[in-house]
Amino acid sequence: MKISEVLIKKYLDIKRDLPWRNTRDPYLIWLSEVILQQTRVNQGLPYFNAFSEAYPDVRQLAEAEEDEVLRLWQGLGYYSRARNMHATAKQIVEKFPDHFPVTYDELIRLKGIGPYTAAAVSSFAANEDRAVVDGNVIRVISRFAGITEPVNSTPVRREIERIAAAWLQPGTAALHNQALMELGALICKPQNPLCHECPLQSACAAFRDGLTDRIPLKTKAAPKKERYLHYYLGAEGIQYIRKRGAGDIWQGLYEFPLCETGGPDPEPLPSFAGRETAPQLLQQAKHTLSHQLLHIRFWQTELQAGHLQDYEAVADSELDRYGFPIVLRKFSDVFIAGKGLL
Ligand code: ADE
Repeated sequence: MKISEVLIKKYLDIKRDLPWRNTRDPYLIWLSEVILQQTRVNQGLPYFNAFSEAYPDVRQLAEAEEDEVLRLWQGLGYYSRARNMHATAKQIVEKFPDHFPVTYDELIRLKGIGPYTAAAVSSFAANEDRAVVDGNVIRVISRFAGITEPVNSTPVRREIERIAAAWLQPGTAALHNQALMELGALICKPQNPLCHECPLQSACAAFRDGLTDRIPLKTKAAPKKERYLHYYLGAEGIQYIRKRGAGDIWQGLYEFPLCETGGPDPEPLPSFAGRETAPQLLQQAKHTLSHQLLHIRFWQTELQAGHLQDYEAVADSELDRYGFPIVLRKFSDVFIAGKGLL
């Protein structure tokens, strides 16, 4: 049997029933792929359901308010994905007013759609012969082929793409790609792979050489930039919020009055904080993003409206209508909605 046949046979045995596998609607497939990038299936599933219900077709997504899209995306992280998805939806409606593009060549020309997504949508929705290469596929192939160099170099990446294309049998891409990704997700897992259940075990170089815990090798990521953010809440049932701008984390999401300092101390006293009583520390949190480590402190103080011109005043009860970064949302749920204010 060819590798693809082995993979597909196993897939039919172990596959999870997931909503985007029961449709050929390219919009829903695209939506699922955007959500599942950098996100586990279990985490992405409720978001897929929420988005497909709120925006059943690409036109409705394109016509949605960006604030609303970001609010639905709350908690999924990598918010630029949501903004890019929204921008891509607008582009699709403009360029393809009466159908969602399904060929690789149409998709790859769209801003915001890269080779992975173009291959995924064209293969799943139209069975086009395109091999997908995501993190799961990289892991399976690099282990199978015993690739001990870092997989994030261009030549190694090319080699993996070559193998992925060679494994694909014409006319089977929709099933084959799902099968390969599912093997990576359920059996050839990053940690503790279930090699005894793997149909490729007898030909796998990493298994043979005892290298599954060393492959795939990645070059070490640059250290994360550390930032110190201080957020201030008022005590009067009114909060001040503003939308974050371009060029930094959390673009388009809302935040409370902020004072960013260059290091862990001293404690700042921003102009908008009242002078009568010192701000009281409510909570501190560390929050990890892909390239930054945020040290966040939440303070309660008398806020001076006159020093908050960039902010808008909203009642505590209205905060739910705005999309916040999840770390701020959780905090406000505890201290404001839960009346945890001191
Ligand atoms: N990860 C990325 N795309 C996926 C898909 N279609 N099914 C399961 N996991 C995925």
